[in-house]
Amino acid sequence: MRERMSRRQVLGIGGALGVVALGGLSSAAALSRRPASTGAVLRSAVPLPPAFAVPLPIPSVLSGAEIEIVQREVTAEILPGVPTRLWTYGGTFPGPTIESHRGRAVTVAHRNELPVPTVVHLHGGRTPAESDGYPTDLVLPAGWGHMGHGMHDPRAVTSEVTRSYTFPLDQRATMLWYHDHRMDFTAPAIWRGLAGMHIVRDSAEESLGLPSGVRELPLMIADRAFAADGSLAYPSIDPTLQMQHGVQEPYIAGVLGDVILVNGAPWPVHEVDAARYRLRILNASNARHYDLEAVLDDGRRLDLVQIGADQGLLRAPVIHRNLPIAPAERYDVILDFGQVPLGSRVRIVNRLGSGRTRDVMAFSVVRKAADSSRIPEVLSDDLPEWQRSEAVRVRDFSFRAGQMGDGHGWLIGGQAFAPDRTDVTTRLGDVEIWRLVADVHHPVHLHLVGFRVLSRGGRAPLPHDAGLKDTVSLRPGESAEIITRFDGYRGRYLFHCHNAEHEDMGMMANLEIT
Ligand code: C2O
Ligand code: CU
Ligand code: CU
Repeated sequence: MRERMSRRQVLGIGGALGVVALGGLSSAAALSRRPASTGAVLRSAVPLPPAFAVPLPIPSVLSGAEIEIVQREVTAEILPGVPTRLWTYGGTFPGPTIESHRGRAVTVAHRNELPVPTVVHLHGGRTPAESDGYPTDLVLPAGWGHMGHGMHDPRAVTSEVTRSYTFPLDQRATMLWYHDHRMDFTAPAIWRGLAGMHIVRDSAEESLGLPSGVRELPLMIADRAFAADGSLAYPSIDPTLQMQHGVQEPYIAGVLGDVILVNGAPWPVHEVDAARYRLRILNASNARHYDLEAVLDDGRRLDLVQIGADQGLLRAPVIHRNLPIAPAERYDVILDFGQVPLGSRVRIVNRLGSGRTRDVMAFSVVRKAADSSRIPEVLSDDLPEWQRSEAVRVRDFSFRAGQMGDGHGWLIGGQAFAPDRTDVTTRLGDVEIWRLVADVHHPVHLHLVGFRVLSRGGRAPLPHDAGLKDTVSLRPGESAEIITRFDGYRGRYLFHCHNAEHEDMGMMANLEIT
């Protein structure tokens, strides 16, 4: 049973969001009072460490055609001296980074030793539907039986304890990520640690001369909060995550933590050479948005040279002073520490944060070093350029708060997710334009395909919309047009908001490719 909300509570959410949440959308009002993130901050109940004291962890790497990952609960030390229970892929948070090569299939056998069903999705993967991690294709833990709330999905393919996912990876080289996608419980599962990165490489990219080896760093940014006993705090209605889904008020719009983790460490520091580094940045936060900036001790800013987006290299580099990143988005960025005096520090800060959430991590420039890396003027020439005239269909979708059952939910086109309702049917190979409109922040993600951003707010896309995307960040009151070709595989896929709390509370829809 869903928690019932009084009208007063519902209006309270509207107030907290700074917009008229239910019913109508007042774009002008929303635009003029645009909050930094949509959600509410959960405060930690343990003392927090100072910033830039913990070294940046680099997740271990797995490669090869066959990989095995055990999903299990572990106790780890995220905050120094504080033991924290985590749900992990392979015993660590983030899980191991999978390294693979374009066009070489990888099979990942997952074994679920957690106390709840799970399902793995490779975000940004061009994956056949049976391995895409549809939210009801559950991997049940041993002895689960018939527990859990009823779901009406005759097409679900569940398995017991283990499941192998096959990823053909016939797609552009880029950094993907894998995470839990269980129906109604994705947000708390990711929060507890079920997320990892997956890098796809190809020879074209390898020949460019970009920084590599120890000068290429995968960076998973995620906010969390800690309870008094050291566990991860999360406002679940049912903390066992077995029966009832959803979060308590006032977190319905999104759960924001007060600790910023990078690769699972709080506000870490990393020692670097005075040379160019390639940062593969992922925002794996449930709801927090960042607007990243690289600031020197003397207040100067380093250029963020963007070379890639969610779905791989841009055509040409784009130079940013600051780079907004919404949940699930990735950026491939070069920072040149060669311009920084030895012994100084470069802080990565979030312009949208306040107090301690302004800091993200720091780089300490500790040694002089040779640097033979380069940033070519042309990075790739295989970026799809779909024309408006190619589109056989234009569709409109609103992403808004609304009524779901007898409670509050998040709706696409006025409807909450139902596994057994097909929302969009398209033919394999069709080019379509989708017009998306939002009330509050909604990072909209499509499975299977990458897309281009055609327009934002009726104008040209912003500089950070460049390249091939799989997630587009709609800001309050904003609209955007995207264009894509639905190619790859037939079957049942999804599109949804990647604010993980919104996703769990209805903001997801079925996309059937025939
Ligand atoms: Cu990051 Cu439906 O996924
Ligand atoms: Cu996805
Ligand atoms: Cu949303």
